[in-house]
Amino acid sequence: MKEQNPSNSYIMPIKTAIIGASGNVGRYLWRSYREAFPDCVGTSFSNPGDGLTFFDIRKPDLAALRLEATGHKAILISSAKPNIGYCEEHQEAARAVNVEGTLELIRQAGRTSLQVIFFSTDYVFGNRPGPHDDDEAPRPTTEYGRQKAAVEEAIASLAENHLVLRLSKIFTAVKGDRTLLDDIASSLAAGRVVRAARDQIFCPTYVEDLVQAVGGIQAKGLRGRMNVANPARWSRADAAIAMAKAMRVDPSLVEVISLYDIPSMAGRPLDTSMACPRLIREVGPTFQPLETFIERVAANWAIQ
Ligand SMILES: NC(=O)c1ccc[n+]([C@@H]2O[C@H](COP(=O)([O-])OP(=O)(O)OC[C@H]3O[C@@H](n4cnc5c(N)ncnc54)[C@H](OP(=O)(O)O)[C@@H]3O)[C@@H](O)[C@H]2O)c1
Repeated sequence: MKEQNPSNSYIMPIKTAIIGASGNVGRYLWRSYREAFPDCVGTSFSNPGDGLTFFDIRKPDLAALRLEATGHKAILISSAKPNIGYCEEHQEAARAVNVEGTLELIRQAGRTSLQVIFFSTDYVFGNRPGPHDDDEAPRPTTEYGRQKAAVEEAIASLAENHLVLRLSKIFTAVKGDRTLLDDIASSLAAGRVVRAARDQIFCPTYVEDLVQAVGGIQAKGLRGRMNVANPARWSRADAAIAMAKAMRVDPSLVEVISLYDIPSMAGRPLDTSMACPRLIREVGPTFQPLETFIERVAANWAIQ
């Protein structure tokens, strides 16, 4: 069942097609728009699902989706190859999706009446200390960040009516979906050691809060670029320690490390936390605290 953010009032959604509606983030957005518009288009690539339309962003054919004819006002691009390791190891394959295909889709959408909403990432910021502001220039240190920054840079020349929304780590409270808190809790429940970096700082954001924030941004008719995250800054280590406490497991199961103790993390930015002044000023969404979800996810994995 859909979980609502009780502190946000209902906003009439704008009919929006979701490219990448089979993904971890896209599926929640699509479900939300479908409540108001049952024929709202959602696409998938390798994971077909009920009501989803196949779409390969590497060979995008926007016209085939008939979005304007069916009353859509916006297209939200949630399709990507967002795995950071994958982007490093398969740069060309990732670029075909994250940059080339995405830019071609934006080019096609720019010739229509649709607003283009593009999900970017906190990984566009480099190794300067956070929190990073809406207007801070991208200085990516990873291939994933560089690919997202390339789209950020080109989008204005392709689609006048666009939004670039930079997300931080998105999580749910669903047992078993391996998002941030579930991943930590499942390991602790199994008695496995969780290695968590004290110097990896981000802004974990509950997925339904993101859905509400996107709706609020659209309802206000905003354009341009903004950070969209719960502004509360967390280290991965603090999140893991809080989870161990909530689950009442042996605290030594959390091994506090530095991110660069893990060789494969070399080059990753340490502090991707974001300030969201534009979002707060213009939309004023309410983000639910991470502590609430730590309790809820701990309960999912309660040890009998
Ligand atoms: N999740 C986060 O914490 C987070 C944080 C910051 C930014 N973001 C950004 O938010 C967006 C959504 O992330 P996510 O976590 O939902 O990613 P995800 O779970 O990996 O989903 C990616 C989506 O892209 C689709 N896709 C992959 N290759 C495609 C192709 N060739 N053509 C068309 N669609 C293709 C996938 O479809 P199939 O599954 O059907 O193949 C899936 O729907 C991404 O742009 C990501 O960079 C996410």
